[in-house]
Amino acid sequence: MTVLITGGAGFIGSHTCVEFIAAGHDVVIYDNFENSNPIAVERIAAITGKTVPCVTGDIRDQPHLEAVLQDYNCQAVVHFAGLKAVGESAVKPLAYYENNVQGSLALLKAMQSCGIYKFIFSSSATVYGTPEFLPYTEDHPLQAMNPYGRTKLMIEDMLRDLYASDPKWSIAILRYFNPVGAHESGLIGEDPQGIPNNLMPFITQVATGRREKLSIFGGDYETRDGTGVRDYIHVVDLAQGHLAAYDFLKIPGCTAINLGTGQGQSVLEVVGAFEHMSNQKVPYEIVPRRAGDLPEFYAQTDFAQKTLGWRAKKDLREMCKDTWNWASKNPQGYEN
Ligand code: NAD
Ligand code: WQD
Repeated sequence: MTVLITGGAGFIGSHTCVEFIAAGHDVVIYDNFENSNPIAVERIAAITGKTVPCVTGDIRDQPHLEAVLQDYNCQAVVHFAGLKAVGESAVKPLAYYENNVQGSLALLKAMQSCGIYKFIFSSSATVYGTPEFLPYTEDHPLQAMNPYGRTKLMIEDMLRDLYASDPKWSIAILRYFNPVGAHESGLIGEDPQGIPNNLMPFITQVATGRREKLSIFGGDYETRDGTGVRDYIHVVDLAQGHLAAYDFLKIPGCTAINLGTGQGQSVLEVVGAFEHMSNQKVPYEIVPRRAGDLPEFYAQTDFAQKTLGWRAKKDLREMCKDTWNWASKNPQGYEN
């Protein structure tokens, strides 16, 4: 039984490959390396002690996907591949619709034609939009606020329609909150290209001296210290959530599940924890709010615990410790 992992060389995909292999599953990575590095695949092999089959390909290429699904006798797909930068999605919306929506469509058609019906999808808390209440439960109304979020919502809708049309499908829609951290070996981690959009990689690049200071987007939110609050989750916890979801796919259905810790942390709290765990100073200045940012959101995690028997275990200190371990061993990312 082989699991195809699209985007398996990326940040979350690489950590998920490690957890699947450690649990005894055979995996094959399918990635076009648009936002990742083949060295990550070698590192997965170094951590697990297993050779990891990897096919270079694009999820929009349905005939190629069908050939790979058949060649490797795949029984399930974990689908990470896609573009993920919110700001860029407003500048290049068609690239996002093409890669994320058209790519997912081609992948699902390839699966259908090969008779494979088990699917795990990387969705995002961004599909909830402005909170009507917190924590977000899985039945909170859905409302995407930017093209990236709309691609995630469209794919979710496509998956719900697909299951309604054919109850053979087993689909887990996993809504991630804010993934951070790295594998404890320091061999794999987040390696953004260019200027990081997200908080933790930016903090890391300040701590390693690649950037002068962190800009904190807004100090006047109605939160406990005025800075934005998010639910940061360790990427290894997140990867283990996928393993739990894979077991859950034994039962047909189409279910959306939050993967978060249920705890909100402010930007200043993250900076403080990072400085403490890394013993580095992170100079910052408070600048105006970033357009489109929400003041605060975090997950209700009861449903994940009930359905998957999974909950996040690692706290913010461990997230910072492992991020720093990865960053200090790989200050230029995979291109050391
Ligand atoms: P990432 O960019 O590190 O990984 C995505 C991988 O997909 C990369 O290896 C990239 O090369 C590959 N890829 C992109 N387009 C492809 C295509 N057309 N064909 C084949 N491969 C392609 O991103 P990540 O942080 O690991 O995110 C993985 C998934 O989780 C994405 O779908 C993202 O939208 C979703 N997600 C991420 C976050 C986050 O904050 N990191 C939060 C919520 C959801
Ligand atoms: C976190 C907090 C910022 C950078 C985004 C996507 C979401 C999901 C995760 C994919 C906020 C503040 C950030 C910086 C800062 N991705 N910040 N200075 O915005 O919660 O979510 O990534 O699905 O869809 O929207 O994450 O890491 O960008 O920001 O002050 O340089 O850090 O304002 O309060 P966000 P983030």
